[in-house]
Amino acid sequence: MRILSVVGARPNFMKIAPVVAELRLVPEIQHCLVHSGQHYDQQLSGSFFDELGIPKADVNLQVGSGTHAAQTAEVMKRLEPVLLDFKPDLVLVVGDVNSTLATAITASKMNIRLAHIEAGLRSFDNSMPEEINRKVTDTLSDFLFVTEDSGIRNLRAEGVPEERMFLVGNVMIDTLLHHRELARRSPVLEKLRLRSGSAVSPYAVLTLHRPSNVDHLETLEGLLSAIHQIAKQIPVLFPVHPRTMTRIQDMGLANYFESDPQSTTGLKSLDPLGYLDFLCLTDHAKLVLTDSGGIQEETTVLNVPCLTLRENTERPATVDQGTNQIVGTDPKRILEVARQALHAGTPLPRRPPLWDGKAAKRIVKIIVQQNHLSVSEGERLPAVSAAKN
Ligand code: UD1
Repeated sequence: MRILSVVGARPNFMKIAPVVAELRLVPEIQHCLVHSGQHYDQQLSGSFFDELGIPKADVNLQVGSGTHAAQTAEVMKRLEPVLLDFKPDLVLVVGDVNSTLATAITASKMNIRLAHIEAGLRSFDNSMPEEINRKVTDTLSDFLFVTEDSGIRNLRAEGVPEERMFLVGNVMIDTLLHHRELARRSPVLEKLRLRSGSAVSPYAVLTLHRPSNVDHLETLEGLLSAIHQIAKQIPVLFPVHPRTMTRIQDMGLANYFESDPQSTTGLKSLDPLGYLDFLCLTDHAKLVLTDSGGIQEETTVLNVPCLTLRENTERPATVDQGTNQIVGTDPKRILEVARQALHAGTPLPRRPPLWDGKAAKRIVKIIVQQNHLSVSEGERLPAVSAAKN
Protein backbone atom coordinates (compact mmCIF):
# COMPACT_ATOMS: atom_id res chain seq x y z
CA MET A 1 0.00 0.00 0.00
CA ARG A 2 1.34 3.43 -0.90
CA ILE A 3 0.60 6.31 1.46
CA LEU A 4 1.60 9.91 0.83
CA SER A 5 1.46 12.47 3.66
CA VAL A 6 1.68 16.23 3.24
CA VAL A 7 2.82 18.70 5.89
CA GLY A 8 3.44 22.40 5.50
CA ALA A 9 3.46 24.55 8.62
CA ARG A 10 4.86 24.39 12.15
CA PRO A 11 1.87 22.79 13.93
CA ASN A 12 1.77 20.01 11.30
CA PHE A 13 5.20 18.69 12.18
CA MET A 14 4.46 17.53 15.74
CA LYS A 15 1.26 15.90 14.46
CA ILE A 16 2.88 13.88 11.68
CA ALA A 17 5.93 12.73 13.72
CA PRO A 18 4.24 9.85 15.62
CA VAL A 19 2.24 8.81 12.56
CA VAL A 20 5.38 8.48 10.42
CA ALA A 21 7.00 6.40 13.18
CA GLU A 22 4.00 4.02 13.28
CA LEU A 23 3.69 3.75 9.51
CA ARG A 24 7.31 2.65 9.37
CA LEU A 25 6.44 -0.41 11.48
CA VAL A 26 4.19 -1.84 8.78
CA PRO A 27 6.32 -3.47 6.08
CA GLU A 28 3.53 -3.50 3.48
CA ILE A 29 3.27 0.31 3.62
CA GLN A 30 5.44 2.41 1.37
CA HIS A 31 5.35 5.97 2.67
CA CYS A 32 6.23 9.23 0.94
CA LEU A 33 6.51 12.41 3.01
CA VAL A 34 5.92 15.70 1.20
CA HIS A 35 6.72 19.12 2.72
CA SER A 36 4.83 21.89 0.93
CA GLY A 37 7.39 24.49 2.03
CA GLN A 38 4.64 26.76 3.46
CA HIS A 39 6.99 27.26 6.41
CA TYR A 40 10.62 27.32 5.35
CA ASP A 41 12.67 29.01 8.12
CA GLN A 42 14.90 26.75 10.22
CA GLN A 43 13.10 28.13 13.31
CA LEU A 44 9.60 27.33 12.00
CA SER A 45 10.39 24.14 10.10
CA GLY A 46 13.88 22.54 10.01
CA SER A 47 14.43 22.48 13.78
CA PHE A 48 11.17 20.52 14.27
CA PHE A 49 12.23 17.79 11.84
CA ASP A 50 15.58 17.50 13.66
CA GLU A 51 14.20 17.47 17.22
CA LEU A 52 11.24 15.19 16.52
CA GLY A 53 13.27 12.73 14.45
CA ILE A 54 11.03 13.16 11.40
CA PRO A 55 12.83 11.80 8.34
CA LYS A 56 13.76 14.42 5.77
CA ALA A 57 10.83 14.99 3.41
CA ASP A 58 11.04 12.92 0.22
CA VAL A 59 9.77 15.92 -1.72
CA ASN A 60 9.76 19.65 -0.86
CA LEU A 61 7.38 21.72 -2.98
CA GLN A 62 9.02 24.98 -1.82
CA VAL A 63 5.86 27.05 -2.17
CA GLY A 64 6.87 29.68 0.42
CA SER A 65 4.66 32.54 1.58
CA GLY A 66 1.84 34.25 -0.33
CA THR A 67 -1.79 35.25 -0.15
CA HIS A 68 -4.18 32.45 0.78
CA ALA A 69 -5.24 31.93 -2.83
CA ALA A 70 -1.69 32.05 -4.18
CA GLN A 71 -0.28 29.74 -1.52
CA THR A 72 -3.13 27.20 -1.83
CA ALA A 73 -2.97 27.24 -5.63
CA GLU A 74 0.80 26.82 -5.63
CA VAL A 75 0.61 23.73 -3.39
CA MET A 76 -2.07 22.24 -5.67
CA LYS A 77 -0.07 22.93 -8.82
CA ARG A 78 3.15 21.50 -7.46
CA LEU A 79 1.58 18.51 -5.69
CA GLU A 80 -0.36 17.16 -8.68
CA PRO A 81 2.68 15.79 -10.56
CA VAL A 82 3.99 14.23 -7.33
CA LEU A 83 0.69 12.37 -6.88
CA LEU A 84 0.72 11.30 -10.54
CA ASP A 85 4.23 9.95 -10.10
CA PHE A 86 3.89 8.22 -6.68
CA LYS A 87 0.32 6.96 -7.27
CA PRO A 88 -0.68 6.72 -3.61
CA ASP A 89 -3.58 4.53 -2.47
CA LEU A 90 -4.18 6.98 0.37
CA VAL A 91 -3.24 10.59 1.05
CA LEU A 92 -2.89 11.68 4.67
CA VAL A 93 -3.24 15.26 5.92
CA VAL A 94 -3.10 16.77 9.41
CA GLY A 95 -4.52 19.91 10.98
CA ASP A 96 -6.02 22.93 9.25
CA VAL A 97 -3.39 24.96 7.43
CA ASN A 98 -3.49 26.03 3.78
CA SER A 99 -1.31 23.06 2.79
CA THR A 100 -3.94 20.72 4.31
CA LEU A 101 -6.72 22.29 2.25
CA ALA A 102 -4.70 22.34 -0.98
CA THR A 103 -3.77 18.67 -0.60
CA ALA A 104 -7.35 17.63 0.16
CA ILE A 105 -8.67 19.29 -3.00
CA THR A 106 -5.88 17.97 -5.22
CA ALA A 107 -6.10 14.37 -3.99
CA SER A 108 -9.92 14.28 -4.12
CA LYS A 109 -10.04 15.57 -7.69
CA MET A 110 -7.66 12.76 -8.62
CA ASN A 111 -9.99 10.25 -6.91
CA ILE A 112 -7.39 9.33 -4.33
CA ARG A 113 -8.71 8.35 -0.92
CA LEU A 114 -8.08 10.97 1.74
CA ALA A 115 -7.53 10.67 5.51
CA HIS A 116 -7.73 13.74 7.77
CA ILE A 117 -6.08 13.65 11.17
CA GLU A 118 -7.66 16.18 13.60
CA ALA A 119 -11.00 16.16 11.81
CA GLY A 120 -14.28 17.59 13.07
CA LEU A 121 -13.02 20.61 15.02
CA ARG A 122 -15.19 23.69 14.48
CA SER A 123 -14.94 27.26 15.76
CA PHE A 124 -18.12 28.17 13.81
CA ASP A 125 -16.27 31.31 12.77
CA ASN A 126 -15.67 31.55 9.04
CA SER A 127 -13.56 34.69 9.43
CA MET A 128 -10.83 32.32 10.63
CA PRO A 129 -9.04 30.89 7.57
CA GLU A 130 -8.45 27.58 9.34
CA GLU A 131 -12.22 27.03 9.79
CA ILE A 132 -12.67 27.04 6.01
CA ASN A 133 -9.70 24.70 5.63
CA ARG A 134 -11.17 22.30 8.21
CA LYS A 135 -14.68 22.24 6.70
CA VAL A 136 -13.54 21.67 3.11
CA THR A 137 -10.99 19.02 4.11
CA ASP A 138 -13.54 17.11 6.21
CA THR A 139 -16.16 17.19 3.45
CA LEU A 140 -13.69 15.56 1.10
CA SER A 141 -12.20 13.00 3.52
CA ASP A 142 -12.85 9.25 3.46
CA PHE A 143 -11.30 8.67 6.90
CA LEU A 144 -11.85 11.28 9.61
CA PHE A 145 -9.64 10.81 12.66
CA VAL A 146 -11.06 12.84 15.53
CA THR A 147 -9.38 14.13 18.72
CA GLU A 148 -12.36 14.93 20.96
CA ASP A 149 -16.09 14.23 21.37
CA SER A 150 -17.14 17.60 19.94
CA GLY A 151 -15.55 16.59 16.63
CA ILE A 152 -17.77 13.51 16.37
CA ARG A 153 -20.84 15.62 17.21
CA ASN A 154 -19.92 18.25 14.59
CA LEU A 155 -19.34 15.66 11.86
CA ARG A 156 -22.65 13.92 12.66
CA ALA A 157 -24.45 17.27 12.46
CA GLU A 158 -22.89 17.80 9.02
CA GLY A 159 -24.14 14.39 7.87
CA VAL A 160 -20.80 12.59 7.64
CA PRO A 161 -21.48 8.82 7.54
CA GLU A 162 -20.68 7.06 10.84
CA GLU A 163 -18.32 4.56 9.23
CA ARG A 164 -15.94 7.33 8.17
CA MET A 165 -15.32 8.81 11.63
CA PHE A 166 -13.01 7.47 14.31
CA LEU A 167 -12.38 8.96 17.75
CA VAL A 168 -8.69 8.14 18.19
CA GLY A 169 -7.21 10.74 20.56
CA ASN A 170 -4.66 13.40 19.81
CA VAL A 171 -1.41 12.89 17.88
CA MET A 172 -0.05 16.24 19.11
CA ILE A 173 -0.35 14.87 22.65
CA ASP A 174 1.42 11.65 21.56
CA THR A 175 4.40 13.84 20.66
CA LEU A 176 4.18 15.86 23.86
CA LEU A 177 4.10 12.81 26.14
CA HIS A 178 6.93 11.19 24.20
CA HIS A 179 9.19 14.25 24.53
CA ARG A 180 8.23 15.64 27.93
CA GLU A 181 11.14 14.14 29.88
CA LEU A 182 13.68 15.15 27.25
CA ALA A 183 12.21 18.67 27.18
CA ARG A 184 12.65 18.96 30.96
CA ARG A 185 16.40 18.75 30.36
CA SER A 186 16.35 21.69 27.93
CA PRO A 187 18.74 24.48 28.99
CA VAL A 188 16.19 27.16 28.02
CA LEU A 189 15.28 28.13 31.61
CA GLU A 190 18.93 28.67 32.52
CA LYS A 191 19.51 30.63 29.32
CA LEU A 192 16.61 32.91 30.21
CA ARG A 193 17.84 33.09 33.83
CA LEU A 194 14.58 31.61 35.11
CA ARG A 195 16.14 28.63 36.90
CA SER A 196 19.04 28.45 39.30
CA GLY A 197 19.65 25.04 40.85
CA SER A 198 16.24 23.39 41.17
CA ALA A 199 14.33 26.65 41.82
CA VAL A 200 12.32 28.06 38.93
CA SER A 201 11.12 31.65 39.28
CA PRO A 202 7.49 32.28 38.33
CA TYR A 203 6.77 33.51 34.82
CA ALA A 204 4.02 33.51 32.17
CA VAL A 205 4.26 32.67 28.44
CA LEU A 206 2.56 34.50 25.57
CA THR A 207 2.06 33.53 21.92
CA LEU A 208 0.13 35.53 19.31
CA HIS A 209 -0.08 35.03 15.57
CA ARG A 210 -3.74 34.90 14.44
CA PRO A 211 -4.47 37.50 11.74
CA SER A 212 -7.57 38.63 13.72
CA ASN A 213 -5.28 39.54 16.64
CA VAL A 214 -2.15 40.85 14.99
CA ASP A 215 -3.31 42.51 11.77
CA HIS A 216 -5.33 45.36 13.34
CA LEU A 217 -3.61 48.14 15.29
CA GLU A 218 -6.41 48.59 17.83
CA THR A 219 -6.64 44.88 18.71
CA LEU A 220 -2.89 44.27 18.82
CA GLU A 221 -2.24 47.39 20.89
CA GLY A 222 -5.06 46.45 23.29
CA LEU A 223 -3.58 42.97 23.76
CA LEU A 224 -0.03 44.23 24.26
CA SER A 225 -1.13 46.92 26.71
CA ALA A 226 -3.05 44.38 28.84
CA ILE A 227 -0.15 41.99 28.81
CA HIS A 228 2.24 44.82 29.63
CA GLN A 229 0.15 45.37 32.80
CA ILE A 230 0.25 41.66 33.69
CA ALA A 231 4.02 41.74 33.15
CA LYS A 232 4.36 44.22 36.02
CA GLN A 233 3.34 41.36 38.35
CA ILE A 234 5.04 38.44 36.64
CA PRO A 235 7.53 38.36 33.75
CA VAL A 236 5.90 37.39 30.44
CA LEU A 237 8.07 35.51 27.92
CA PHE A 238 6.93 36.05 24.34
CA PRO A 239 8.49 33.94 21.54
CA VAL A 240 7.34 36.07 18.60
CA HIS A 241 6.09 34.54 15.33
CA PRO A 242 7.73 36.28 12.32
CA ARG A 243 4.39 37.63 11.01
CA THR A 244 3.63 39.11 14.46
CA MET A 245 7.09 40.70 14.75
CA THR A 246 6.64 42.33 11.35
CA ARG A 247 3.25 43.75 12.43
CA ILE A 248 4.59 44.99 15.81
CA GLN A 249 7.46 46.78 14.10
CA ASP A 250 5.30 48.22 11.29
CA MET A 251 2.73 49.50 13.82
CA GLY A 252 5.43 50.99 16.09
CA LEU A 253 4.44 48.85 19.11
CA ALA A 254 7.89 47.51 20.05
CA ASN A 255 7.92 49.95 23.00
CA TYR A 256 5.76 47.41 24.90
CA PHE A 257 8.77 45.09 25.06
CA GLU A 258 11.09 45.27 28.07
CA SER A 259 14.32 46.87 26.87
CA ASP A 260 16.44 46.21 29.98
CA PRO A 261 17.82 42.64 29.72
CA GLN A 262 18.53 42.67 33.50
CA SER A 263 14.92 43.41 34.45
CA THR A 264 13.08 40.63 36.31
CA THR A 265 9.65 41.81 35.17
CA GLY A 266 8.21 43.02 31.89
CA LEU A 267 7.18 41.64 28.52
CA LYS A 268 10.26 40.00 27.05
CA SER A 269 10.39 39.22 23.34
CA LEU A 270 12.25 36.10 22.18
CA ASP A 271 12.95 34.56 18.80
CA PRO A 272 10.63 31.63 17.96
CA LEU A 273 11.71 28.60 20.01
CA GLY A 274 12.28 24.99 18.98
CA TYR A 275 9.87 22.27 20.10
CA LEU A 276 11.78 21.06 23.18
CA ASP A 277 12.60 24.54 24.47
CA PHE A 278 9.01 25.69 24.07
CA LEU A 279 7.66 22.55 25.75
CA CYS A 280 10.04 23.07 28.67
CA LEU A 281 9.03 26.73 28.96
CA THR A 282 5.29 25.91 28.91
CA ASP A 283 5.66 22.99 31.29
CA HIS A 284 7.12 25.25 34.01
CA ALA A 285 4.94 28.33 33.39
CA LYS A 286 2.43 29.66 35.94
CA LEU A 287 0.17 30.87 33.15
CA VAL A 288 -0.01 30.75 29.35
CA LEU A 289 -1.77 33.37 27.21
CA THR A 290 -2.25 32.35 23.58
CA ASP A 291 -4.30 32.48 20.40
CA SER A 292 -2.88 29.16 19.15
CA GLY A 293 -5.03 26.03 18.84
CA GLY A 294 -2.41 23.43 19.71
CA ILE A 295 -1.18 25.27 22.81
CA GLN A 296 -4.69 25.09 24.30
CA GLU A 297 -4.35 21.31 24.08
CA GLU A 298 -0.76 21.12 25.31
CA THR A 299 -1.46 23.24 28.41
CA THR A 300 -4.40 20.99 29.27
CA VAL A 301 -2.12 17.96 29.38
CA LEU A 302 0.67 19.89 31.15
CA ASN A 303 -1.90 21.13 33.69
CA VAL A 304 -0.93 24.78 33.20
CA PRO A 305 -3.72 27.41 33.22
CA CYS A 306 -4.32 28.72 29.70
CA LEU A 307 -6.09 31.95 28.72
CA THR A 308 -7.16 31.89 25.08
CA LEU A 309 -7.12 35.38 23.58
CA ARG A 310 -9.92 34.69 21.10
CA GLU A 311 -13.72 34.82 21.16
CA ASN A 312 -14.13 31.08 20.49
CA THR A 313 -12.33 27.77 20.35
CA GLU A 314 -12.63 24.80 18.02
CA ARG A 315 -11.25 22.69 20.90
CA PRO A 316 -13.98 22.87 23.60
CA ALA A 317 -12.62 19.76 25.37
CA THR A 318 -9.75 21.95 26.63
CA VAL A 319 -12.32 24.11 28.44
CA ASP A 320 -14.73 21.35 29.61
CA GLN A 321 -12.04 18.84 30.51
CA GLY A 322 -8.88 20.90 30.75
CA THR A 323 -7.24 24.13 31.90
CA ASN A 324 -8.40 26.50 29.17
CA GLN A 325 -10.54 29.65 29.52
CA ILE A 326 -11.81 31.60 26.52
CA VAL A 327 -11.08 35.19 27.46
CA GLY A 328 -11.45 37.17 24.22
CA THR A 329 -9.47 40.29 23.41
CA ASP A 330 -10.91 42.92 25.74
CA PRO A 331 -7.90 44.27 27.70
CA LYS A 332 -9.85 44.76 30.98
CA ARG A 333 -11.17 41.21 30.91
CA ILE A 334 -7.73 39.76 30.12
CA LEU A 335 -6.25 41.58 33.11
CA GLU A 336 -9.02 40.48 35.43
CA VAL A 337 -8.94 36.80 34.41
CA ALA A 338 -5.13 36.69 34.46
CA ARG A 339 -5.11 38.03 38.03
CA GLN A 340 -7.67 35.42 39.08
CA ALA A 341 -5.76 32.60 37.38
CA LEU A 342 -2.46 33.61 38.99
CA HIS A 343 -4.16 33.79 42.38
CA ALA A 344 -5.94 30.42 41.96
CA GLY A 345 -2.71 28.47 41.39
CA THR A 346 -2.42 25.00 39.85
CA PRO A 347 -5.68 23.51 38.54
CA LEU A 348 -6.78 19.94 39.24
CA PRO A 349 -5.29 17.59 36.65
CA ARG A 350 -7.80 16.26 34.08
CA ARG A 351 -7.63 15.53 30.39
CA PRO A 352 -9.95 14.43 27.58
CA PRO A 353 -10.38 10.69 26.94
CA LEU A 354 -7.79 8.98 24.70
CA TRP A 355 -5.24 11.79 25.05
CA ASP A 356 -2.89 9.08 26.23
CA GLY A 357 -0.02 8.98 23.76
CA LYS A 358 -1.50 6.20 21.59
CA ALA A 359 -3.47 8.10 18.95
CA ALA A 360 -1.01 7.42 16.11
CA LYS A 361 -1.06 3.69 16.92
CA ARG A 362 -4.86 3.68 16.69
CA ILE A 363 -4.81 5.58 13.39
CA VAL A 364 -2.32 3.24 11.74
CA LYS A 365 -4.18 0.14 13.02
CA ILE A 366 -7.40 1.44 11.48
CA ILE A 367 -5.66 2.15 8.17
CA VAL A 368 -4.15 -1.33 8.24
CA GLN A 369 -7.48 -3.02 9.07
CA GLN A 370 -9.40 -1.07 6.46
CA ASN A 371 -6.89 -2.12 3.84
CA HIS A 372 -6.59 -5.73 5.02
CA LEU A 373 -2.86 -5.46 5.65
CA SER A 374 -1.17 -7.41 8.42
CA VAL A 375 -0.15 -5.62 11.62
CA SER A 376 3.53 -6.06 12.34
CA GLU A 377 3.34 -5.59 16.09
CA GLY A 378 0.82 -5.39 18.93
CA GLU A 379 -2.78 -6.48 18.90
CA ARG A 380 -5.24 -5.74 16.16
CA LEU A 381 -8.12 -3.57 17.31
CA PRO A 382 -11.08 -5.89 18.03
CA ALA A 383 -13.18 -3.80 15.65
CA VAL A 384 -12.88 -0.40 14.10
CA SER A 385 -15.87 0.66 16.17
CA ALA A 386 -13.76 0.10 19.30
CA ALA A 387 -12.06 3.38 18.58
CA LYS A 388 -15.29 5.15 17.79
CA ASN A 389 -17.41 7.29 20.03
C1 UD1 B 1 0.09 29.26 9.47
C2 UD1 B 1 -1.29 28.64 9.50
C3 UD1 B 1 -1.85 28.70 10.91
C4 UD1 B 1 -0.89 28.13 11.92
C5 UD1 B 1 0.44 28.85 11.78
C6 UD1 B 1 1.50 28.36 12.73
C7 UD1 B 1 -2.69 28.88 7.49
C8 UD1 B 1 -3.89 29.56 6.95
N1 UD1 B 1 -2.23 29.37 8.65
O1 UD1 B 1 -0.05 30.64 9.77
O2 UD1 B 1 -3.06 27.97 10.96
O3 UD1 B 1 -1.41 28.29 13.21
O4 UD1 B 1 0.91 28.64 10.43
O5 UD1 B 1 2.65 29.14 12.60
O6 UD1 B 1 -2.20 27.96 6.89
N2 UD1 B 1 6.97 33.40 7.55
C9 UD1 B 1 8.32 33.40 7.83
N3 UD1 B 1 8.98 32.21 7.79
C10 UD1 B 1 8.36 31.03 7.45
C11 UD1 B 1 6.97 31.07 7.14
C12 UD1 B 1 6.30 32.25 7.22
O7 UD1 B 1 8.91 34.42 8.14
O8 UD1 B 1 9.02 29.97 7.45
C13 UD1 B 1 6.25 34.69 7.62
C14 UD1 B 1 6.05 35.30 6.26
O9 UD1 B 1 6.11 36.67 6.39
C15 UD1 B 1 4.61 34.88 5.92
C16 UD1 B 1 3.96 34.92 7.29
O10 UD1 B 1 4.98 34.46 8.18
O11 UD1 B 1 4.00 35.72 5.01
C17 UD1 B 1 2.75 34.06 7.42
O12 UD1 B 1 3.05 32.70 7.07
P1 UD1 B 1 1.87 31.73 6.58
O13 UD1 B 1 2.38 30.39 6.33
O14 UD1 B 1 1.10 32.39 5.49
O15 UD1 B 1 0.87 31.72 7.82
P2 UD1 B 1 1.10 31.66 9.40
O16 UD1 B 1 0.69 32.96 9.96
O17 UD1 B 1 2.44 31.14 9.78
